[in-house]
Amino acid sequence: MTQMTASKNEIKDISLAGTGENRINWAKSQMLVLNSIMNRFSKEKPLNKIKISACCHVTTETAVLALTLQAGGADCLLIASNPLSTQDDVAAALVKNHNVSVFAIKGESTDTYRKHVSIALNHEPNVIIDDGSDVVATLLKDKKDLLKNIIGTTEETTTGLVRLRAMQKDGVLTFPSIAVNDSQTKHMFDNRYGTGQSTLDGIIRATNVLIAGKVLVVAGYGWCGKGAAKRAQGLGARVVVTEIDPIKAIEATMDGFQVLPMSEACKIGDIFITVTGNKSVIDKQHFEQMKDGAIVCNSGHFDLEINLDVLSKMSQGKRTIRPFLEEYKVSGKNIFILAEGRLVNLGAAEGHPALVMDMSFANQALAVEYLVKNKGKLKAGVQILPSEIDKEIASLKLKTLGINIDKLTPEQIHYMNSWQEGT
Ligand code: NAD
Ligand code: ADE
Repeated sequence: MTQMTASKNEIKDISLAGTGENRINWAKSQMLVLNSIMNRFSKEKPLNKIKISACCHVTTETAVLALTLQAGGADCLLIASNPLSTQDDVAAALVKNHNVSVFAIKGESTDTYRKHVSIALNHEPNVIIDDGSDVVATLLKDKKDLLKNIIGTTEETTTGLVRLRAMQKDGVLTFPSIAVNDSQTKHMFDNRYGTGQSTLDGIIRATNVLIAGKVLVVAGYGWCGKGAAKRAQGLGARVVVTEIDPIKAIEATMDGFQVLPMSEACKIGDIFITVTGNKSVIDKQHFEQMKDGAIVCNSGHFDLEINLDVLSKMSQGKRTIRPFLEEYKVSGKNIFILAEGRLVNLGAAEGHPALVMDMSFANQALAVEYLVKNKGKLKAGVQILPSEIDKEIASLKLKTLGINIDKLTPEQIHYMNSWQEGT
């Protein structure tokens, strides 16, 4: 049942609000850095009257971010950043209990997704929080008249930043864009430990296969790939890595993984994970050589890392075995695709755990505040948050984890700033 509540929302089912509220509170209890920002925002109201359109995965953790922005005085509208990642109970709780406008339904069509992107822009935002740059790309292509309202935007993910930097190269990025992904407290933890754990979680929830003893191929040894490879190894898989960057390939080798080109890896893999941010990483020639029963999934931002169009054309039939697990019949063998080739960790599981999203979304909240505080003063283009903000988030996180670290002594500060002392 799709439910329209006036034109302020488009969600699946408002009666799911109770479950959503409980789950949001559970996530909130683990997001102590964001809680401290929410408390400060409630007092200082740094986002008073600021209109925000947020395009994020609609999860319990995103709900806590939305409530933080709202506590700061913002008028926040939320849409999904992927057709399959919405948690419908969370959307319901935000609408029913918190007066946040939400346009997101798990399993929405691409047309509905695009309609929601338009709705996000029609909100006439001053700040856009994007995850993948679809809202900013639509603004620049189709809604340039709204540029006058924009103070700046923030971007959550690696692929979104690749697109923003291409926009900047083309000379069309006329406002500041904060690269939240490039804060150390974001990509070193969210992309690595978050994607690492939740990708394996997605594979296990969709299939319930035993990972131990399997040959698991990870395509891409960036921040996400490193996390997925390590967690798969921890569960007992024999991990093979594919790369196109020679430095990353050496790193994977010295981390103890076998490195092969996909043309070889495709013949021996039991499970495949793509996390490259690139397209057609698994293609016709790879499907042709895969073993019967191979399980193929993606945790990169877009659903083009696995060439599903070609698989559909090669296939003599397709059926759903269980939620998020589809069997394709290809020349007498079966190939299994998880979560329609979309982000498996958000489609078949719940995305990253709250404890790690705490730092990602602390960056988001502080990036929005930074844009608003510095309205009109920042240069146009992609930029990272000042390192003091990154360090402050790390210090707050350590505090919430009850971990103390050393401080430089005056003697050490002097030594680190001088050259006279040596052998
Ligand atoms: P990254 O740039 O750190 O790593 C990507 C790696 O893929 C690089 O090492 C690159 O050399 C490699 N690569 C590119 N093309 C390749 C190919 N054809 N074959 C093999 N390797 C190839 O990026 P990242 O931060 O690891 O992000 C990867 C993707 O995951 C992006 O799309 C990003 O937006 C997405 N992401 C998803 C989640 C999630 O929740 N699932 C979280 C964060 C990022
Ligand atoms: N990206 C990855 N995991 C996420 C989560 N739990 N919430 C929002 N965005 C995410």
